[in-house]
Amino acid sequence: MDVRFEHVSLTYNRGNEVLHDIDFKLPDGELIALLGPSGGGKSTILNLISGLLQATSGKIYFGEDEVTKKTALQRGVGMVFQNYALYPHMSVIDNIAFPMKMAKVDKKQRLTKARELATLVRVDDQLDKFPSGLSGGQQQRVAIARALAKNPSVLLLDEPLSNLDARLRVEMREEIRRIQQETGVTTVFVTHDQSEAMHVADHIMLLNDGFIQQISTPQSLYETPANRFVSRFIGDPVINEISVNELENVFVFPDTATSIGIRAEALVAANGQQPQIKVMVKEAQLFGREYQVRLLLNGHELIATNDVQLNPGQVGMVSLDMSGVHIFNEQGKRLNKEVQTL
Ligand SMILES: Nc1ncnc2c1ncn2[C@@H]1O[C@H](COP(=O)(O)OP(=O)(O)OP(=O)(O)O)[C@@H](O)[C@H]1O
Ligand SMILES: [Mg+2]
Repeated sequence: MDVRFEHVSLTYNRGNEVLHDIDFKLPDGELIALLGPSGGGKSTILNLISGLLQATSGKIYFGEDEVTKKTALQRGVGMVFQNYALYPHMSVIDNIAFPMKMAKVDKKQRLTKARELATLVRVDDQLDKFPSGLSGGQQQRVAIARALAKNPSVLLLDEPLSNLDARLRVEMREEIRRIQQETGVTTVFVTHDQSEAMHVADHIMLLNDGFIQQISTPQSLYETPANRFVSRFIGDPVINEISVNELENVFVFPDTATSIGIRAEALVAANGQQPQIKVMVKEAQLFGREYQVRLLLNGHELIATNDVQLNPGQVGMVSLDMSGVHIFNEQGKRLNKEVQTL
């Protein structure tokens, strides 16, 4: 089911508007990540899709069907939250079957379906346990199976992995991807972790302060950020940023350009074809297999993840791979114009 917002805004109890004129279409069958810093409006959008919140203005569609005024029950979404909220006094199989019990599906049928879902999420060897006897990851698997039990129109996941440790988060995000692909259900996944969003999503909606910053595939968000906020939020290490003044002796920038973002991997060993920039190497460190060099350009620190073939303490030249270089105007909008070399 595709999900569409038309000029949706939301104000909580006569207070400030927290979502401003939100317009998007989430394609059917995709996994879409809602990404952004705390307070950006991710959960609010999720609750507007679910019907737990009503839009202050604008329209919401599921496919051709306008659902703006419909209740959560009528919309038939499945939801999973950060705190698993399983029923503690029910076994795994009963937890998964519960929504079907409420919908008065007959017992034999719902147990068959619950077992299928348990197999899908790989808790089929835990059916008689109670939630307190499960690990965090297993509890989230059960919560996902329960959310899928009523064949939801859309599956909504609000930071489902944030209570898990780092390694389990990685494992579970792959699991969510697999389950989403096996079921084909349109899924909206909220996270504030850019790497998580980059790894699982078909499309990412990046939000800040109740505005959509960009909706794009993970790769194009990284390669062609719409603005400075997007370029900073996506990518690790964080993009290097300096004033265009620092490189005026090497490049010609469009008149309105004020700052330049340089990805860590775009700082490369000096080569004959590219303009060269004078830097001092502050230090070089190896983290596992990742190499990081701290460079100083007129006293501004830049992080490079390539071997720039200079030793710490040495002054020398580096070049830029222009595909990882973005220029921005004063308002932070990315300028697409080519930077020219002097
Ligand atoms: N029930 C509420 N009443 C009033 N304001 C609220 C309410 N819930 C959220 N807000 C405000 O709406 C804005 C968006 O909140 P929202 O919960 O959607 O952010 P979020 O992106 O999910 O953040 P987080 O990553 O912290 O979960 C915030 O400024 C928040 O203070
Ligand atoms: Mg939230």
